[in-house]
Amino acid sequence: MRAVVAGVGACTPERVVTNAELEKKVDTTDDWIVQRTGIRQRYIAGEGETTSTLATKAAQRALEAAGLTAADVDLIVLATSTPDYTFPATATQVQAALGVTRGAAFDVQAVCSGFVFAVSVAEKFIATGASACALVIGAETFSRILDWEDRTTCVLFGDGAGAIVLKAEPGQGTTDDRGVLTSHLRSDGRHREKLYVDGGPSATGTVGHLRMSGREVFRHAVGMVTDVMTDAFAATGLTAGDLDWFVPHQANERIIDASAEKLGIDSKKIVKTVALHGNTSAASIPLALATAVADGRIKRGDIVMIEAMGGGFTWGAAILRW
Ligand code: UT7
Repeated sequence: MRAVVAGVGACTPERVVTNAELEKKVDTTDDWIVQRTGIRQRYIAGEGETTSTLATKAAQRALEAAGLTAADVDLIVLATSTPDYTFPATATQVQAALGVTRGAAFDVQAVCSGFVFAVSVAEKFIATGASACALVIGAETFSRILDWEDRTTCVLFGDGAGAIVLKAEPGQGTTDDRGVLTSHLRSDGRHREKLYVDGGPSATGTVGHLRMSGREVFRHAVGMVTDVMTDAFAATGLTAGDLDWFVPHQANERIIDASAEKLGIDSKKIVKTVALHGNTSAASIPLALATAVADGRIKRGDIVMIEAMGGGFTWGAAILRW
């Protein structure tokens, strides 16, 4: 069984915060942010907007796009590092809000790589026959764990949610099949100190704030993602030239461009939304997918590669035929 994308949806908070607005809050400039990251604006959740409310809207839109309803869903895998509450899982809140009563709903925690991890997990449920229709969601409200006095991090992140519906469809086991063709996940916990949150229920009894040595993360990012992308190419026999679209995690335009260049991916094939959304962690890839489907770039039958790297470190890549 292949896990085939049947629909995609997205939701961003109402409020847009531009770089110019951040210039008034911390010692930064629009020029610095644009040159170092490519980010021009981000969405920030307001009152009443949480990870689960954004996720629910994105999921509803993905179901609508797929022509399906809550009754069809038998699995929800939600990637987030900013759950509404320590527990229950945000996925169960989305489940209740959608009116889904079958199957399982749980969260996956792999920070910025979360969506790739969630796709890989859901694909395995479908491939084994355990599920027939999965909602895979990436949703975050990183604005709630940012230290708004730390200019080295607060200008980088934003809030949002994106979702895809994965449906079981029989395949031939070749790369001509539609669906997730391969996925590759990696973690290395020795890198914790480079990107972490300095609070948590068991360690401190607080929520904490995001801390990052940006330069250190940057130093590892390109090598790690290109490693796992190379694994994905090797597993499928596909090459950079076979890709129709490259949809990377949207943390930094320089990391995106360097990764694509290293593997010989044509710059015209890169989907970039970092300017609009900033780094929305696990939400960034599904937000970018939704953007590129809505504007007609990604079409049925296209070969799409997704990849991400984030806190842990965690990193991963997957290739799908849309
Ligand atoms: O999504 C999970 C993975 N995360 C990432 O992929 C993030 C990876 N890292 C990055 O994207 C980049 O490292 C950053 C965008 C975070 C920083 O860019 P950089 O080119 O690595 O800059 P830097 O950290 O080396 O800082 C350069 C200078 C420093 O000043 P000095 O020490 O050279 O005097 C910083 O203090 O820029 C300064 N700086 C700022 N200046 C204006 C740091 N933040 C700001 C700011 N505005 N917001």
